[in-house]
Amino acid sequence: MGTVLAPSILSADFARLGAEVEAVEAGGAALIHVDVMDGRFVPNITIGPVVAAALRRTTSLPLDCHLMVEDPGRWVEPFVEAGAEIVSVHVEADRHLDRTLRRIRELGAKAGVVVNPATPLSALDAVLPIADLVLVMSVNPGFGGQRFLPAALERVRRLRERILAERLGARIEIDGGIAADNLEAVALAGADIVVAGSAVFAGGNAREATATMVRRLAEIAERARSC
Ligand code: DX5
Ligand code: ZN
Repeated sequence: MGTVLAPSILSADFARLGAEVEAVEAGGAALIHVDVMDGRFVPNITIGPVVAAALRRTTSLPLDCHLMVEDPGRWVEPFVEAGAEIVSVHVEADRHLDRTLRRIRELGAKAGVVVNPATPLSALDAVLPIADLVLVMSVNPGFGGQRFLPAALERVRRLRERILAERLGARIEIDGGIAADNLEAVALAGADIVVAGSAVFAGGNAREATATMVRRLAEIAERARSC
């Protein structure tokens, strides 16, 4: 399977959130990426489980909840109850990462682990076998519309090699600053899921922007297969 697109609603028009989500669903998005920020782990505050539950009622796409919060273990259950399919927590934010990931799985969701740009990949060593997903940040989290940090590509490649070599099941997601100019590079580096916020929502036609990126990803996968 090729790389799929997860539009980040952080850059959506929050006053028309239902319509924005419908638009990306119609455009072929695979997941809805939900950026949860607490004003402590990152310098911004966004949305909580109440909004996730409202999204759950609006779309049939899986909710991919990216928790940028301190002590994320506290928030796992509320987000799973709200209907999250994936709950991802930052290695930098959790003193009890192993416990949190196991808890997410026990609750029936997929457990994701997130690494900031400055965090060595070795921080994942102990938890990689129990992670359903590794999310590689390609910006410093907190805001949409930032510039892509190219070092993330090599990190995705290394993780891809390692997951293959150790026959692990974790999927790789990449998040931050992804647009038409680097979509091919992130897909070829080995990302299974690409998050895009401003590239999808900033132009005012989220359906069309989603469809264009999804088409492009399909072409890249097709070309990679025939090589
Ligand atoms: C950053 C968030 C990202 C971000 C993506 O803290 O985790 O999901 O909103 O937005 P763009 O694609 O605009 O960088
Ligand atoms: Zn995110």
